Amino acid sequence: MIRPRRNRKSEAIRSMVRETSVSLSSFIYPLFVFEGNGTKIPIASMPGIYRWSAEEVLKEIEECVQLGIQSFVLFPVFPDAQKDKLATKSFAEDNFYLHLITTIKKHFPQVALMSDVAMDPYSSDGHDGLVIDGEIVNDETLPILANMSVAQAQAGIDIIGPSDMMDGRVGFIRDALDQAGYENVSILSYTAKYASACYGPFREALDSAPRSGDKKTYQMDPANRIEALRELTLDLNEGADMVMVKPATLYLDIIREIKDHSDVPVAAYNVSGEYAMVKAAAQNGWLDNDRMMHEMLLSISRAGADIILTYFAKEYAQKFK
Ligand code: PBG
Repeated sequence: MIRPRRNRKSEAIRSMVRETSVSLSSFIYPLFVFEGNGTKIPIASMPGIYRWSAEEVLKEIEECVQLGIQSFVLFPVFPDAQKDKLATKSFAEDNFYLHLITTIKKHFPQVALMSDVAMDPYSSDGHDGLVIDGEIVNDETLPILANMSVAQAQAGIDIIGPSDMMDGRVGFIRDALDQAGYENVSILSYTAKYASACYGPFREALDSAPRSGDKKTYQMDPANRIEALRELTLDLNEGADMVMVKPATLYLDIIREIKDHSDVPVAAYNVSGEYAMVKAAAQNGWLDNDRMMHEMLLSISRAGADIILTYFAKEYAQKFK
């Protein structure tokens, strides 16, 4: 008789036939940063995750590096007083985020540092693009994103992460980087970013929720799969070095679809809401935190993600190294 259970009879055999694994080298750890010193501020809906002051974040990165994490993505938090319609602060001389990029790369030249490119942290409208008469306009947004990208490249960023979902922005940013002499700066495009309910805790962390309306005219409809392939074709043609699906676990089919159709590495963003769901259930004693964390990351990797952006990165490294 054919018995699949023979391959499951001991841990030695199970690990011998195991098809996927989660590796620390595939992690990109998101860090929220603000201007200031000596403090870290907890985020209520994301237990274990903080907003780090520019000074404190260096210690956090040091700890993570010791644990074996090599890549980070930085999200800046700006006070309302520094926001305006044109996201002017995003490429201003006195933007702490740009200085922090330089400082981190100076202290940790070996880490891969990724940025966020979108207007929302700097915009008084709280949208990823420029708002004119209530409309999020596309083409007028592109030069702003390009200025932001070039400023980040100048600061020393390794990977630009456009999360804005404007049409044509990968090509536009690529051209701007090349023209400014940053042909070695990579672009990891948020290729299939869905208009998801899972971003709530992140917007709380950044205080970046849209002041009016929603993001449905630029982020993708959660009902659509084939449209993700259209976005993929565009991003590859425009020169994306890596592509991303976001969120991750509710979109495992999309990760697989994108993986099967692309010849560049595929990333998945295990977003704030996915993290919050596990933490909330675990805090109630309803689910086992460590097993959920492991299974969640494993499922993303099994779906085809080569790279995982996850708030679990440090905890996973601490517990499963
Ligand atoms: C916005 C941005 C968002 C996230 C990353 N970049 C939120 C949004 O689109 O409103 C969400 C990440 C998360 O939820 O962890 N540019």
